[in-house]
Amino acid sequence: MNYIIEDGNITLREKLSINHEDRAYQFGDGVYEVIGVYEGKPFKIKEHLTRLQYSCNEIDISFTESISDLEDKLLELKEKNKLQNGHIYLQVSRGISNRNHSFPPKEVLPKFIAYTLEVPRPTSEMYQKGVKALITEDIRWLRCDIKSLNLLPNVLAKEKAVKTGSYEAILQRDGIVTEGSSTNLFVVSNEIVFTHPATNKILNGITRRTILEICQDKNISVKQEEFDVNFLLNADEVFITGTYIDILPLREINKQKYEVGPIYNLLKKEIDFLTM
Ligand code: PDD
Repeated sequence: MNYIIEDGNITLREKLSINHEDRAYQFGDGVYEVIGVYEGKPFKIKEHLTRLQYSCNEIDISFTESISDLEDKLLELKEKNKLQNGHIYLQVSRGISNRNHSFPPKEVLPKFIAYTLEVPRPTSEMYQKGVKALITEDIRWLRCDIKSLNLLPNVLAKEKAVKTGSYEAILQRDGIVTEGSSTNLFVVSNEIVFTHPATNKILNGITRRTILEICQDKNISVKQEEFDVNFLLNADEVFITGTYIDILPLREINKQKYEVGPIYNLLKKEIDFLTM
């Protein structure tokens, strides 16, 4: 993994010049994407790049690179680094400028970097038996639909979960379950799949959208509506989705135990088919 992209160019990683006045450092003023790569093939790269543009637009970063140019560049980077299984990380900040809360002058261009990383997928035991999760308060801002670099609430929630032996933190806001610290959440109750609607309170995950498409194909009933912690704790099945994991079942949340159920097994089979 010797190469990175800095602004338009593929260059040696050791040549990357990180600047302390990049607004990503000083304000978390930027957005990012993580694109999964499975057996050398990126998963839904166009959808990730479209979401990157959405995030940029929503916070007024004028990142003008076209999706097809970006895609070509990222594929070249993946080839150069011989990435097989892992991800491509990309980040766009508002640029480099003297520290000042207001936007920098118009001439300051967004700063773009991208790199690749080999990452092992969860073990087959995790996929078959499930993982534990902990419910914690969702203290994020009210634009969770933007994939912003401001991840402090997510980091704190995840750390709390990991410290108590859990894999993921499930976030709740005023008793309503939103999503995981870096995953979307689904529950099954009476053979209906429930997930939080794609509003400002969650990130509309690319894996989430894929699961909804599979449900539609397979005639599985879905309700994208809000539900509370009690509903979650009484569900028949619970699973989380996201780029590193695709779909992982939960076997325990706050000491409440769950079976790994038939809807998870069906969805897992289908998503494996797409990511092989
Ligand atoms: N996280 N919700 C949140 C808050 C996330 O940060 C993510 C992704 C998801 C799942 O989205 P997707 O299916 O598009 O990966 C949901 C990435 C992987 C991360 O921050 O590393």
